[in-house]
Amino acid sequence: EVVDAAGLVALPGFVDLHTHLREPGREDAETIDTGSASATLGGYTAVFAMANTDPVADNAVLVEHVWRRGREVGLVDVHPVGAVTVGLGGERLAELGGMARSAAQVRMFSDDGVCVADPLLMRRALEYSSVLGATIAQHAEEPRLTVGAQAHEGERAALLGLAGWPAAAEESIVARDCLLAHRTGGRLHVCHVSTAGTVEVLRWAAGPLAALPTLAAGGRPGRVSAEVTPHHLLLTDERLATYDPVNKVNPPLRTEADTLALRAALAEGVIDCVATDHAPHAPQDKDCEWSAARPGMLGLETALSVVVETMVTTGLLDWRGVARVMSERPAELVGLADQGRPIAVGEPASLVLIDPTAHWTVRGSESASLADNTPFEGMRLPARVVATMLRGRFTARDGKVLRWIDSC
Ligand code: DOR
Ligand code: ZN
Ligand code: ZN
Repeated sequence: EVVDAAGLVALPGFVDLHTHLREPGREDAETIDTGSASATLGGYTAVFAMANTDPVADNAVLVEHVWRRGREVGLVDVHPVGAVTVGLGGERLAELGGMARSAAQVRMFSDDGVCVADPLLMRRALEYSSVLGATIAQHAEEPRLTVGAQAHEGERAALLGLAGWPAAAEESIVARDCLLAHRTGGRLHVCHVSTAGTVEVLRWAAGPLAALPTLAAGGRPGRVSAEVTPHHLLLTDERLATYDPVNKVNPPLRTEADTLALRAALAEGVIDCVATDHAPHAPQDKDCEWSAARPGMLGLETALSVVVETMVTTGLLDWRGVARVMSERPAELVGLADQGRPIAVGEPASLVLIDPTAHWTVRGSESASLADNTPFEGMRLPARVVATMLRGRFTARDGKVLRWIDSC
């Protein structure tokens, strides 16, 4: 088959370190099938499925189940993320080793959705992660500072009478865990960085902190990495003016100064990569009062366009840089062998073809996700995924999902 790719940009398939697929437990919001379809339309060839399902993915049986289901669907590689604790925010470490050694080969453990607030537990998780060669992904929230919080602590929230989510609730726990990672030799991945202050903490972790001695066995240094979401790159708390729960997300949308700091940090490499935090919600969980609405936004099908709008159109990244932050660097952080790098001769390719000149208008109802809670509804955005290929087979083309059955 000959594909005319004249004028298109070819990049290695995107790798999302942070996707919520909702299966098992909330199949009315998203399933591994619909989430995979959404991912391939967005140019992704691998996604990391977060552990805050029901039941929580805190054991080998469950992560293997998610992994197998992903393989059956076959549209993207679905890598389950294991929970750090038994239950999210639990008081005991989960059997990380059992999940790492399972068929799912879990390489990332997370407390996303609920924090590991206990420093002793986090320290033990980081120590153990270094033994396993796995990464601890941290939701970046000190829960004692966000009790009741509904929006970014600032003028907007005050006007609406919404309890504020302080920037320091993120910055303080990120600083704490950077120290723990460094001293233990653990690998920490900071999820959805949202404030300029956290960017400064990451600079400190990469510079002065890294120069301090580590207590890890063999003197192996710790590693800190970080991600930013498309919505935190583009949207601000000015959005609260409409009081539409589609804009409710954890961590909350911040200020314009924060978005500019996040963009600069991503361009510089202080923030390693873009991750969507794709968070589908059923209609009844979004079409309600602000305070009752669940936090989270769709992200998979709009990520590329939002990154182009905020990073390429502004001159902060070129296409090489887009490949770095959406594919190469995330694949490297979790050690994916066959993704996120230039394709070798004779190797079945996992790649995405992009029309860099296209513009399109976002419609949640047209998304392959079961949910439609996109905060970008009606926005005209640049760049479009034309085709996605997973190991030599087209999984999406011209906005259509191609399943095995279609290509046989
Ligand atoms: O906005 C969010 N939604 N933040 C989280 O940490 C969890 C996520 C979800 O699961 O919906
Ligand atoms: Zn989170
Ligand atoms: Zn999340």
